[in-house]
Amino acid sequence: LGQSVIGFGKCGEPATCGVAGLDRNTAGVSNRVMPERIEIVEGDITTLNVDAIVNAANKTLLGGGGVDGAIHRAAGPKLREACSLLDGCATGEAKITPGFRLPARYVIHTVGPIWGGGERGEDRLLASCYANSLALAVGHGLSSIAFPSISTGAYGFPPPRAAHVAVTTVLAGLRTAPALKRVVFCCFGKDSLVHHDTALAAALGPGK
Ligand code: APR
Repeated sequence: LGQSVIGFGKCGEPATCGVAGLDRNTAGVSNRVMPERIEIVEGDITTLNVDAIVNAANKTLLGGGGVDGAIHRAAGPKLREACSLLDGCATGEAKITPGFRLPARYVIHTVGPIWGGGERGEDRLLASCYANSLALAVGHGLSSIAFPSISTGAYGFPPPRAAHVAVTTVLAGLRTAPALKRVVFCCFGKDSLVHHDTALAAALGPGK
């Protein structure tokens, strides 16, 4: 594919590799570029240079911990100001603001479901987060977007199951969004990287 991707080496320093699909071991870069326009990388989503990064927010949209806190810190105080005008966000919905001091031009804020055992529509609500975020990106003419692993931190969603929902929803969304050239799953740790890799391999089927 020849596109250069940014991943993180062993001790977390940014590493760039010029050739997509590198063998992880040689480059020490924990990522993989899939021909299907999907990348799975390990790193801090606030550093990614994509059109939009997705924030795993809460319903107030006024900031919090985890990736929400990291994004607000990196974007600066104007992000909270912009969010305060949005009148919150329902679970499964998504709203967009500028990225301010972030490398990303936009932040798409979405509110994941709180895990309640799996029988309360959590999968459907989590899928809505990904689908609605993609729809907002397409609606704003964006061509690249990065997702954290929504709901798998404070909201307690089992990471392997969340990765399956994330990957299958994004693959389905990409089929009807040719303008989206690059979707990055930004994993905050090796385990999350493996969960997304495994989910993608399973979704693409053997030999693809
Ligand atoms: N870059 C990428 N991913 C990150 C980063 C980061 N800088 N920081 C944390 N993560 C990962 C976590 O490791 C986890 O896998 O984001 C995922 C989501 O975890 P949370 O941030 O805890 O989000 P969530 O589980 O959706 O809970 C949302 O937590 O921070 C509050 O305001 C937020 O109330 C909301 C709740």
